[in-house]
Amino acid sequence: MSTLGVGIVGCGNISTIYMQNMPKFRDLRLIACADIRPEAAQAQAAQFGIEALSIDALLARPDIRIVVNLTTPDAHFAISHAALTADKNVFGEKPITIEANDAAILVAEAARRGLKLGCAPDTFLGGGGRIAREFIDTGRIGRVLYGTCFLMSHGMEHWHPDPTFFFKRGGGPILDMGPYYLAALINLLGPVARVQGRASSGFASRLVTSKGPMNGKTIAVETPTTVMSLLHFESGADIIFAMSWDVWKHGHPPIELYGTEGSLRVPDPNFFGGAVQYTEKGGDWISITADDRPFGKPNWRSPNWADHIPNQANYRCLGVAELASAVLHDTPHRASGALASHALEVKHAILKASVEGGEIVVHSRVERPAPLSDVDAMALWAEETF
Ligand SMILES: NC(=O)c1ccc[n+]([C@@H]2O[C@H](COP(=O)([O-])OP(=O)(O)OC[C@H]3O[C@@H](n4cnc5c(N)ncnc54)[C@H](O)[C@@H]3O)[C@@H](O)[C@H]2O)c1
Repeated sequence: MSTLGVGIVGCGNISTIYMQNMPKFRDLRLIACADIRPEAAQAQAAQFGIEALSIDALLARPDIRIVVNLTTPDAHFAISHAALTADKNVFGEKPITIEANDAAILVAEAARRGLKLGCAPDTFLGGGGRIAREFIDTGRIGRVLYGTCFLMSHGMEHWHPDPTFFFKRGGGPILDMGPYYLAALINLLGPVARVQGRASSGFASRLVTSKGPMNGKTIAVETPTTVMSLLHFESGADIIFAMSWDVWKHGHPPIELYGTEGSLRVPDPNFFGGAVQYTEKGGDWISITADDRPFGKPNWRSPNWADHIPNQANYRCLGVAELASAVLHDTPHRASGALASHALEVKHAILKASVEGGEIVVHSRVERPAPLSDVDAMALWAEETF
């Protein structure tokens, strides 16, 4: 089976892990990169032995079949739309777009052209997410009635070289981190039907302490940095959902689901691995590690982490590889634009509920993606083992 040529647009912080990981996936061949700052594209091209092109030249290249959009959120719609218009399949970083209508336009445009549109997060396809899905699908905790989901930290200004976009429209923990947690929940429970919400900002400005040219500068906060909501899923499950960058420390697991037969702790969907914990009817927690599953083995640590924080599984590009396989085999892809578009409507519905009060109805619907077996996951990996 032939490989698909890939071009990356957006050569900032996250592009490095994509470029490092891409050769490890079977169906992908990284050809070129582009950036609105040509020097950023040239630096990444030199490091990874690929071509640096202008955006127009990259989109015009016939050997590039997938465009991976790693620009900042304000450019997601324009770049993805231009790539679809140039007849490229597209995989974008989250959030798919800033505005929900724009995401729906991209989904429709891809469908009209017979192209695939994918979007991060793809972490639910990792070893940890797949074990959690197996538990739900085999009924180990019965029907999910309730649950909780928490992402809480003290922001991004301590690690990202230019954290400005996180605190402007299109950022905030709901649009920036919410995608990981919502995609994981939608993969397990199906679509969200209605939401309630409350949003606020604990701090009016942020002092940048990360290394780089922004160090010591202050960013005005223009988007909510704490969002609390109640999600009512079409399945009937009610989930408390809280995303905050205003909290120094907390003790909540990322996701807990409470079923008619037991409870399930889902590993943090910010990563690909972790351990699933479950209890049957109130017995002790039993832990199942994803370390020995495809895309579950810890392989990465952030340069910003303290020594006591363990390595995590980071297989970014998994969603691009899964999309490439779907293109080659003419099958549905899982980390889809439709899923991301539904999740974005949910996030905006939460923000709307926080202004208007009451319950906001979510209109779009998405099927749960098909489960990914270990065998099919392994087939995406170019190497023999992990
Ligand atoms: N940094 C991370 O750890 C991380 C993790 C997961 C996802 N993401 C997502 O990846 C995306 C990029 O994040 P980042 O941290 O790499 O940001 P970044 O600011 O470091 O890099 C973004 C790059 O996009 C380029 N760019 C902006 N507008 C452009 C345009 N119109 N055309 C071409 N290039 C353009 C910028 O010049 C910059 O080089 C965001 O959507 C973010 O949410 C980042």
